Amino acid sequence: MSSFRDFISSQMPTMLYCFICFLAISTMASGSTASLKVGFYSSTCPSAEAIVRKAVTKAISQNPGIGAGLIRMHFHDCFVRGCDASVLLDSTPGNDAEKSHPANNPSLRGFEVIDMAKAHIEAVCPQTVSCADIIAFAARDSAYKLGGINYAVPAGRRDGLISRSADIRANLPPPSFTAKQLEDRFAGKGLSLEEMVTLSGAHSIGVSHCSSFLNRLYNFNATHPQDPSMDPDYAAFLKTRCPPTSTAGSSLDPTVPLDVLTPNRLDNKYYKNLKNHHGLLTSDWTLMSSHSTAWMVRNNAKHPSAWASKFAAAMVHMGYIDVLTGTQGEIRKSCSVVN
Ligand code: HEM
Ligand SMILES: *[C@@H]1O[C@H](CO)[C@@H](O)[C@H](O)[C@H]1NC(C)=O
Repeated sequence: MSSFRDFISSQMPTMLYCFICFLAISTMASGSTASLKVGFYSSTCPSAEAIVRKAVTKAISQNPGIGAGLIRMHFHDCFVRGCDASVLLDSTPGNDAEKSHPANNPSLRGFEVIDMAKAHIEAVCPQTVSCADIIAFAARDSAYKLGGINYAVPAGRRDGLISRSADIRANLPPPSFTAKQLEDRFAGKGLSLEEMVTLSGAHSIGVSHCSSFLNRLYNFNATHPQDPSMDPDYAAFLKTRCPPTSTAGSSLDPTVPLDVLTPNRLDNKYYKNLKNHHGLLTSDWTLMSSHSTAWMVRNNAKHPSAWASKFAAAMVHMGYIDVLTGTQGEIRKSCSVVN
């Protein structure tokens, strides 16, 4: 090191990186006043996270799609009434729960893995670990198993008492949304445009029912029955899998992979697909067709490990949305019913 100037320039990338880290962390902190903590159960239930990881790993080795379901479950939980496990509550006489809404029923999956983990945890530490934290751990463990993406999950969430199907519409974005509408919906939850694009990379695993994008194949608009922005060969393939009669909620609604390249690998192929006009949902393609986000898609397609780090950070940030902590809510005994 010949001079201070050389030293500074050799450290520049690190310093810049730290500065960006610092910005990211301070934005996160300002976005939430709640205090979640990594290792929250280290004294009260030290085996909690290991039990969840074991249940998730086993389920995914039997069916990788369950991992996709668990990552989506965390998203659907956090966006509706915060990350409070409201998504797990069953409907009761006189109350349709979130679970019963078409955005969740019949497509949301992985409930049995949460129940299994919860049962094992209850056996060793009764009424100590929240269902909301179990979902957050399970989503992380799925990202690890399917994408090698590992991160520490701040915990200490409490479980909510309310779940209403009617809350879904104003909170979960439908697949027909434009980039601007998606941006607004995520901003309403304290998530940035870039986090929205980063998290959409979860569509690199799992499936969609035909009914979620059927309009792009058969009745796009008055002049184009088929969405002209979709690669015609890809559209032709999708038509072989999705008959025009595909109907949401019926047995006549097949599924196709969200990512045709690596359907069981959580990676950045999603963004490569978008560049190749192989985006499945309107809400996927809009990220490539909009100026505000196209450059982010290109960046993520080019830099897999940078995307993976951003994905981990954005999952952690999403996990803070409107959480209940301290004495709020409760620790459920069984995840599908309030105590
Ligand atoms: C940006 C707005 C989003 C929209 C409009 C959207 C919409 C959808 C739709 C329509 C499906 C297919 C459901 C079906 O027909 O079976 C789906 C699947 C999925 N979504 Fe999203 N999603 C969005 C963001 C996210 C985020 C932020 C995550 C997680 C971080 C996520 C994770 C998943 C996963 C993993 C699947 C596959 C589920 C399975 O195979 O069981 N999505 N999404
Ligand atoms: C149908 O969509 C195409 C491609 O997006 C567009 O160019 C055309 O103007 C649309 N037609 C109508 C009638 O909306």
